[in-house]
Amino acid sequence: MRIRTAVLISGRGSNLKSLITACSAEVFPAEIVLVISNVPNAPGLNHARAAGIPQQVIAHTEFQRREDFDSALDAVLQEEKIGLICLAGFMRILGDGFVARWQGRLINIHPSLLPSFRGTRVHERAVESGVRISGCTVHYVTPEMDSGPAIVQAAVPVGPDDTTEALAARVLEAEHKIYPQALKMVADRSVRLENGKTVFGAYRCAGEFLINPAEG
Ligand code: GAR
Repeated sequence: MRIRTAVLISGRGSNLKSLITACSAEVFPAEIVLVISNVPNAPGLNHARAAGIPQQVIAHTEFQRREDFDSALDAVLQEEKIGLICLAGFMRILGDGFVARWQGRLINIHPSLLPSFRGTRVHERAVESGVRISGCTVHYVTPEMDSGPAIVQAAVPVGPDDTTEALAARVLEAEHKIYPQALKMVADRSVRLENGKTVFGAYRCAGEFLINPAEG
């Protein structure tokens, strides 16, 4: 039985696309059965449409309180018997109640090597700071934003002349590799969240989930 997975987006949806591609493999432990956007007409919804995946828009602007948006979202996810949620460029903070309810079944991708550069304007801040390595992280979502334990990370070099856009594009390529990898690990229970930490079962060797920037 493949785990019924929902992907939540707010925009372009390139990570959604990489997850759809991975899930279309003959053998994959997750099936994307629903795509939800909090932004009407988000371009990423086209990827769901092209793949024949049901989609829903739950516009946060229609709710006065964050909890009401979270409840509406939760109701749809329960109704669809979702077992796993992937946030993929979903730019809404989810409340503590929602996060607690979905703990261990809610993962996110962030375009930095967490805990560096939490929040927004990530690539701009990375370039400004002069770091030589940035990257991306797939992590379990916990109540504090961008703070949950990592499942997979990829390191990406930062060139001395990199613009924000150049770095963003390089990191995005790595995101498209690690998100499917992390989804597979969570869905087939090779990893789990326990006492606020990621516990690795079958994947004990760091080489399995570190993407080496030298590989190009
Ligand atoms: C991605 O770079 C993702 O890591 C980032 O938004 C972008 C969405 O792109 N997410 C965050 O910054 C969350 N804190 P996409 O819509 O093409 O997948």
